Amino acid sequence: MGFRKDFLWGGAVAAHQLEGGWDQGGKGPSIADVMTAGGNGIPRRITDGVLPGENYPNHEAIDFYHHYKEDIALFAEMGFKAFRTSIAWSRIYPNGDDAVPNEEGLKFYDDMFDTMHKYGIEPVITLQHFEMPYHLAKQYNGFMDKRCIDFFVTFAKTCFERYKGKVKYWMTFNEINNQAACETAHHMLQEGAVLTTDDNPDNQFMMYQSGINELIASAKAVQIGHAIDANNMIGCMIGFVPVYPATCNPKDMMEYTAANHRKYWFADVQCTGIIPGYLEKYWERKGYKIDLTDEEREEIRKGKVDYAGFSYYMSMTTAWREGNDEYDFNEQANEARHVVSDVVKNPYLKCSDWGWPIDPLGLRYSLNWFTDRYHLPMMIVENGLGAYDKKEADGSVNDDYRIAYLRNHIEAMREAVNEDGVDLLGYQMWAPIDIVSASTGEMDKRYGFIYVNKNNAGEGDLSRSKKKSFDWYKHVIETNGEEL
Ligand code: BG6
Repeated sequence: MGFRKDFLWGGAVAAHQLEGGWDQGGKGPSIADVMTAGGNGIPRRITDGVLPGENYPNHEAIDFYHHYKEDIALFAEMGFKAFRTSIAWSRIYPNGDDAVPNEEGLKFYDDMFDTMHKYGIEPVITLQHFEMPYHLAKQYNGFMDKRCIDFFVTFAKTCFERYKGKVKYWMTFNEINNQAACETAHHMLQEGAVLTTDDNPDNQFMMYQSGINELIASAKAVQIGHAIDANNMIGCMIGFVPVYPATCNPKDMMEYTAANHRKYWFADVQCTGIIPGYLEKYWERKGYKIDLTDEEREEIRKGKVDYAGFSYYMSMTTAWREGNDEYDFNEQANEARHVVSDVVKNPYLKCSDWGWPIDPLGLRYSLNWFTDRYHLPMMIVENGLGAYDKKEADGSVNDDYRIAYLRNHIEAMREAVNEDGVDLLGYQMWAPIDIVSASTGEMDKRYGFIYVNKNNAGEGDLSRSKKKSFDWYKHVIETNGEEL
């Protein structure tokens, strides 16, 4: 009973959200570098390049670029077996289409991985986590252009070759499916470096075309990664928000099915190698002529992932609505494009301060959903609570709410292992140290076991200190999840 002996307990972050050093060591600007700070309920703006006078929180972030040794030492103190981060693509290829990689960038990650191994921490690496080189967005419109497939594959090959023997666990694209349900300018830029506006009627077509191109790139990278090192385990990374039907009305069940198709077709493709029939039919109905050749379909078939990585923060509930084609429903209502939302409130769940429904049992359901659909090993690569933390006069942060959130989720995950027999490789909590929020650009939306002295206004000396949850998680790892 219990978690496997080599269970990968750890934490997850992404390069752009903590490294800073946005223009140091030969790094080029990434798409994250043109996103301004938003706020709770206030969207981030995308500027036309890096403009003077704007506030770009990712430029400095928490300066992990210069602090990674002390931060990794703190993770080691908690007993981490794994640490998930990403390789900032524009540190390696500053423009994305460069002929040769940037040695200084490659060396930075060599040193970082060596530091992890010194403590017996296994790197879990994402290749593209919302941080494509900005030049690829500006010059090519990102993955709308097939040439970006080759640029990504070159970047992936460079990383697989360079870090052979140092990195075994990889993921190709972070939350590749987020764009599917939202189709906003923010998501289209984050996931595929596609520049658009919220009200562009072509967003959905572009989402399918750029998404297919990313999937081809992912499948090619998986094959190259296996050829370079047969030990490589290369996964997908799905932003998983399990869908619940609002009632047992059969129409709600069909809406639930449609929402699963709409949100998780990326997972179906990456885990099975097949373009699902429901997708082909939808393209046909919409008149979308997706550029996807037989050779590319074959690449997708051959490039199935080894494990299903997914993030889990919340669940969602959908309902059928009179007079609407279920496939035109969207997770996010968009009045400008006459898109109606099918998302309804779940009366059984409470929400976080940012309105994210808190649902530990949904994690057990998610592990079963993936197992029933794909029968692959899994890794939870993100799970955590963004909250307002209060630093007391004595410097302590008593984040009992964070401990409660994580305890309940780990308990649900343990039940999935013990009772349902799911094959789980590890758990990467998001994010072990306070970092810049991806959706809002805030610092005050805190997830960490380690407090970083910096606020939304950018004030603070970046000093690190342990929160109450630090020792709690340390004990969880020590007892391999027995004592929560
Ligand atoms: C996931 C992303 O969507 O959720 C992370 O992979 C992100 O990059 C995390 O940080 C939490 O979201 P947020 O918006 O609170 O930072």
